Amino acid sequence: MRVKNLDFSHYPTFPNNLHKLFHNVLYIHIDRLLFILSLYIIIPYKVFINEYIIHQNKRKGSVILKSEMNGTSLINLSNIKKSFITAAGNFDALKGINLEVKQGELIAVVGKSGSGKSTLMNMIAGIDKPSSGEIMIGDKKVHTMSENQISKWRGITVGVVFQFFQLLPTLTVIENVMLPMDFCKTYPLSKRKDRALDLLRQVGIEDQAYKFPTALSGGQQQRTAIARALANNPSIILADEPTGNLDTATANDVFDIFNILVSNSKTVIIVTHDQDIANRCSRTIKLTDGLIA
Ligand SMILES: Nc1ncnc2c1ncn2[C@@H]1O[C@H](COP(=O)(O)OP(=O)(O)OP(=O)(O)O)[C@@H](O)[C@H]1O
Ligand SMILES: [Mg+2]
Repeated sequence: MRVKNLDFSHYPTFPNNLHKLFHNVLYIHIDRLLFILSLYIIIPYKVFINEYIIHQNKRKGSVILKSEMNGTSLINLSNIKKSFITAAGNFDALKGINLEVKQGELIAVVGKSGSGKSTLMNMIAGIDKPSSGEIMIGDKKVHTMSENQISKWRGITVGVVFQFFQLLPTLTVIENVMLPMDFCKTYPLSKRKDRALDLLRQVGIEDQAYKFPTALSGGQQQRTAIARALANNPSIILADEPTGNLDTATANDVFDIFNILVSNSKTVIIVTHDQDIANRCSRTIKLTDGLIA
């Protein structure tokens, strides 16, 4: 069967008109369309998504901080063992640690060099995994979490202060403090800078905010590290020899910051070689060869 050639010549204008209409709407009014689109759809959607992420992140942070919860069990370690594989064979750094820490405690961890203090802190922070045993923090079984889950959980629940500060030298002081908030999205973008400045004010170095860490004294760098550890308002602060590199007066000032945190219902664990600092804590845990003595 032969198909006749179709002839559209008797209504030639319809497709052209449609094209013109499309052109008019899309190109002439595109700026208005985009404005309306962003005003009523994109911006509210982004705000909603941001608020949702912040809400979810806060919910995931396992521990609810209320002063009336002080004294309730927060950290529970059961028979924690940690072995490292070394050239000389397996080395048992922790040999079965049982420990319960209550909310609002200020604990000193003491012991000789090599007794396992940093290894223990790394277990509680989820920086390293135990070879065996269980770690419960709040209602979270830290030992069963994946690396990804742990890093998100840690960012919100635990603030870690390292002995040698570990600030990023290419970022200013305030940028260092904002970093955990950027990573965990615990606060809206618009509030992060104000919060970082507020934390720097709390540790007494607001005036150093726009300097680079290398321009700061040891004490000021340690205060920056503490402010950074507090960025996401964690329930637990772990500090590995936070006063080890400071003179006595500065060490006392830094310790006072931890005291204030505890009075605000935070739980603080400090590794220290300084007996005076240990005496001022509510409890001391002594490690000897990977065991609590
Ligand atoms: N990654 C590792 N590989 C092998 N051995 C390790 C590792 N980390 C720690 N150790 C060993 O485990 C033991 C405990 O180390 P840890 O760093 O916990 O001691 P510490 O009490 O913090 O000491 P210091 O007071 O000197 O900081 C040490 O003998 C150390 O050599
Ligand atoms: Mg150590």
